[in-house]
Amino acid sequence: MNKIDIIREILNKKIHIPINEMGRAFAPTNIALIKYWGKRDNALNLPITSSLSISLPQKGAQSEITVSHENDHRIYVNDVAISNESPHGKRLNEFLNAFRFGTFSYDVRIHVNIPVAAGLASSSCIYASLILALNDLYQWNLDTSTLSILARLGSGSACRSIYSGFVEWHVGTCPKGLDSFATPIDAPWPDFCVGLCVIDSSPKTLSSREGMIHTLKTSRLYAEWPNCVKTDLLHMKKALKNRDFSLMGKTAESNALTFHATLLSAWPPISYHKPQTFDLMHRVWSCRQRGIEMYFTQDAGPNLKLLFLKNQLDSVFAEFPDMEIIRPFEQIT
Ligand code: PMV
Repeated sequence: MNKIDIIREILNKKIHIPINEMGRAFAPTNIALIKYWGKRDNALNLPITSSLSISLPQKGAQSEITVSHENDHRIYVNDVAISNESPHGKRLNEFLNAFRFGTFSYDVRIHVNIPVAAGLASSSCIYASLILALNDLYQWNLDTSTLSILARLGSGSACRSIYSGFVEWHVGTCPKGLDSFATPIDAPWPDFCVGLCVIDSSPKTLSSREGMIHTLKTSRLYAEWPNCVKTDLLHMKKALKNRDFSLMGKTAESNALTFHATLLSAWPPISYHKPQTFDLMHRVWSCRQRGIEMYFTQDAGPNLKLLFLKNQLDSVFAEFPDMEIIRPFEQIT
């Protein structure tokens, strides 16, 4: 079954006439603590493993969608028109086409407050906000699991951006992917902090989509990756339940390092690192040796996200004065 058939099946009994003049919604970006890498179905973004993330409430995408009578969709990201021929534009168009129920097209304005395609999970918040905005435009009142499935069809990790806090994306087994969606983990942690260290905000040269396919085909270490994720998920959930920061940080950092080792073992190798990335990693390890408890995670880009608790904020800030501090639970608790 293809993406469009599944979307039509899900929206079967829903109204296909816009109710609101404009659909509007915000979705947060999310940072994976246990990474998703590898699809069992490339068209439906069905993963090989479950994954787990933290949403960053102040960072993300706001989408506004109105109906237009032009032939083509018009899409603006941060007020810049996206060419329908660019890879980004093609992907957004394909997604919007699946929600086109008549001769009309969409005018879409997306505002993102993080660098786009730089390994800061911009696609996760963009596709999640688009689905939430369509839900608002048509007043579908879809439940969050369905919204998560639809967001996943835009970009895998977007299924986690439907929620705030810690979130798990369940791998599922259904070939149509109707059981592959995210749910929130009830584990608010007011003292938990994330420090964004942006080394390079330019778009990555290899997309996650291409990187995953290449890793699956050629990485000598990939066979071990699903086993590592299974163990890491158990440890992470235990750490969140018990607010065990040492276990949480170690599990997240080790998962990120294993992820990048798996990519490095592909051929030709995939490296999302820059020299400064290694420099930052060594500084984190040096801090730990000096008793400042902090860890890092890294996605498909050179930037690091530091993980620490509020009682270490001053020490971490003294070492990394350029980082942007996010308190994921500040607004929730
Ligand atoms: O959802 P995608 O296709 O942008 O892939 C996300 C991949 C990682 O960010 C590296 C890991 C993850 O789980 O978010």
